[in-house]
Amino acid sequence: MFSKVLNTIVQQSTRQYSCKKGLKVTVCGGSGGIGQPLSLLLKQSPIIKDLAIYDIAPVTPGVVADLSHMDTNSNVTSHVGLDNLKDAVANTDVVIVPAGIPRKPGMTRDDLFNTNISIVCDIIKVVGQVAPNALVGIISNPVNSAVPAAAEILKKLNVYDPKKLFGVTTLDIVRSNRFVAELKGLQASEVNVPVIGGHSGVTIIPLISQATPNVSFEQDVLVKLTKRIQEAGTEVVQAKAGAGSATLSMAYAGARFTISMCKAILGEPNVIECSYVESTVTDSPFFSTPVLIGKNGIEKNFGLGKLSDYENELVKAALPELASNIKKGADFGKNYK
Ligand code: 2OP
Repeated sequence: MFSKVLNTIVQQSTRQYSCKKGLKVTVCGGSGGIGQPLSLLLKQSPIIKDLAIYDIAPVTPGVVADLSHMDTNSNVTSHVGLDNLKDAVANTDVVIVPAGIPRKPGMTRDDLFNTNISIVCDIIKVVGQVAPNALVGIISNPVNSAVPAAAEILKKLNVYDPKKLFGVTTLDIVRSNRFVAELKGLQASEVNVPVIGGHSGVTIIPLISQATPNVSFEQDVLVKLTKRIQEAGTEVVQAKAGAGSATLSMAYAGARFTISMCKAILGEPNVIECSYVESTVTDSPFFSTPVLIGKNGIEKNFGLGKLSDYENELVKAALPELASNIKKGADFGKNYK
């Protein structure tokens, strides 16, 4: 798995940037299940000069000592506890947030709300105070609520820029690519399926009709494939049988999104990712669609594109759930002290 990232992300960046110019990336929750492999992948990127690892876990200096022995060019620094988050985010270009607890079997992402949303708000408050210009990607679940909560925190600090706040839904795209490739006998690396909506259950809407290369399925197969993509996180939670949720594939997806934000800041054209962002594309105030990312964040939202009747139904089914997730997150953010 890591070799794929090396080939597709890291080496690509090596060709394009000579490493003279480098960015600072801060991983908030860098010692956790997702944070450690995510930090490992980011440590391999030649476009990251400074990699700051923030976590509340006492193991953090050890994780950083471990990473710091790798003979890649970035410098890694350790920042333990909320009091030290300021240093972690000072002068940072990109903040990526996988902090929080994972699901256990039987739990929905929303069941993580009480624990994870306050963790995200604590982090975003400091980011807003110290690094208001950074591009921020939120991985912590429930993403559908965490992003609106973060937006409210940033609004209270008068630094909210909707172009710079992203919910990371890349794992849904990665999974869709892989599952379509398996069904059609294609190379997964050649498949690209846009996934819109949000990041939980029915809010995850794969647009198989817009996949490249063009693929089609009988309706019953399409329905099964869509459900598998929507429940893929739960597939991992069940397989891990109480030991957590997806960490490795999420780290892979999170690294892809983080590197895309870095490339955009460095001026690479045509950086397009699906992401859960503030949106006017549907009635939902936050909605994931493909967006063009530039130096200062989102430059263009590509919207829904042409949907099949089935995909239109999926969007309709997602909107009530999204509305409730967004209200819950935004209310929490508004009342957060
Ligand atoms: C997933 O989809 C952890 O939300 C993550 O597996």
